[in-house]
Amino acid sequence: MGSLNQPLLGDTQGPGEYGAGMDAIGTLIILGATGDLTSRLLLPGLGRLLTDQPERRISLIGADLAPRDSQQWAEVVRAAFDSVDATGPAVEHVLDHADYLLTDASSKEDLQQLLDSATGIPALYFALPPAVTAQAIEALHQVDLPEGAVLALEKPFGVDRPSAAQLNRQLTALVGEDQIFRVDHFLGKSTVLNILGLRFANYLFEPLLNRDHVAKVEIVYDETLGLENRAGYYDRAGAMVDMIQSHLLQVMALITMDAPQSVHAGDLRATKTEALRAVRPFAGNPVAAGRRARYTAGTVDDRSLPSYSEEHGVDPARGTETLAEVTVESATWRWAGVPFVLRSGKAVGAARREIAITFRDIPHLPAGLDGRVEPTVLRICLGPDGMVLELNVNGPGDPFVLDRGRLTTEFGAGRLNPYGEVLNGLLDRDPSLSISGDAAEHAWGIIDPIRTAWQAGQVPLEEYPAGSGGPENWRP
Ligand code: BG6
Repeated sequence: MGSLNQPLLGDTQGPGEYGAGMDAIGTLIILGATGDLTSRLLLPGLGRLLTDQPERRISLIGADLAPRDSQQWAEVVRAAFDSVDATGPAVEHVLDHADYLLTDASSKEDLQQLLDSATGIPALYFALPPAVTAQAIEALHQVDLPEGAVLALEKPFGVDRPSAAQLNRQLTALVGEDQIFRVDHFLGKSTVLNILGLRFANYLFEPLLNRDHVAKVEIVYDETLGLENRAGYYDRAGAMVDMIQSHLLQVMALITMDAPQSVHAGDLRATKTEALRAVRPFAGNPVAAGRRARYTAGTVDDRSLPSYSEEHGVDPARGTETLAEVTVESATWRWAGVPFVLRSGKAVGAARREIAITFRDIPHLPAGLDGRVEPTVLRICLGPDGMVLELNVNGPGDPFVLDRGRLTTEFGAGRLNPYGEVLNGLLDRDPSLSISGDAAEHAWGIIDPIRTAWQAGQVPLEEYPAGSGGPENWRP
């Protein structure tokens, strides 16, 4: 994926028109520095990136409401860097230039002070709950933003289509679209990015990826993890918003989109956005297109989990789902009528994480060939990362008896972890891996009608014991 490091291209610019000679980010400012996301994901990602790029020089400012001094912040940064064995001059430079500022993200004075403390062009990373991020964006309208500053926002981007559109309006009134990074760390996963190479650098699959040859596509990300003390966020999001609205729809776009001219930001984002624009609930029926469930007490990986509704911080009356499944389609000549099943659950017994493309039944089996004949399946596995092609082949015994053969390969680990990859784009001001404003709105537009049906009680909230494969009646 070396080509993702090409110079920055804005959404509307052609190659070479934007970004030539642009300076990289000088200071990374993390709002929400004392939060879980920062210590668990952002800082380790930064550590890996800086180890890989010893020549990079950035300053790091942590900002949050909790009182800390710069020494304490540097210790948090060091601990996170140590967790990924980060070393080298770029790492040392950050540790020597790590500052912490007590900051109320909704205060224009505090934000101004923060920006004034930055060296070079700043990147403001909002590692904050969505409501606080919205207040900070509001306050930024009364602040002098340095030329070229970039803003990075975590998911969820808004809470539905209208709020995402409103957030987009507020952001684009501040900076250009190519300075807004809507982060989705799935786009930093090397196996997700491998979809591009697999599809567009081989003759084998691309001609078959359409309604003539594909029976269905499943994009599944089931996890054995439960709530993990994240009730404050998760109980308001649920599996649909946490995983499907963002990550899984992005993966779907990479599967359904046409070949982009290049993998530079402008081409890649526009092609992906166009793919999302075509997605809608299967057969246009938002009630039938979705299923939801939440876990009850059970055991996963030898850990006992209480019922979701009894977890600390959960309000059972919200009816938050911990397992969501939607069936959507891409209303295009290429894909119309092919079901795409997107599913993600917490506390599921077996962590199935894959894209499974099932091809159509063969039209005719020559008489005399016997044995097991099932559709060909291509699986792109998202952990452990790899690929499996399941085929029917003549068995080793009777040459006319068919059996199932599996061609498998493992994908090597990416050079960076997903957050390292995301931060690499951010610090280079290359939005290739960031979600465009339109794409964020389309993704909400796909799931909003299904959620409306859920909120209206048209689809029951089912249950499954933690550690099971989901509700009994969902099993094929
Ligand atoms: C996050 C979700 O975005 O992605 C989590 O908020 C989920 O709930 C996680 O567990 C899964 O991604 P990964 O890369 O950690 O497997």
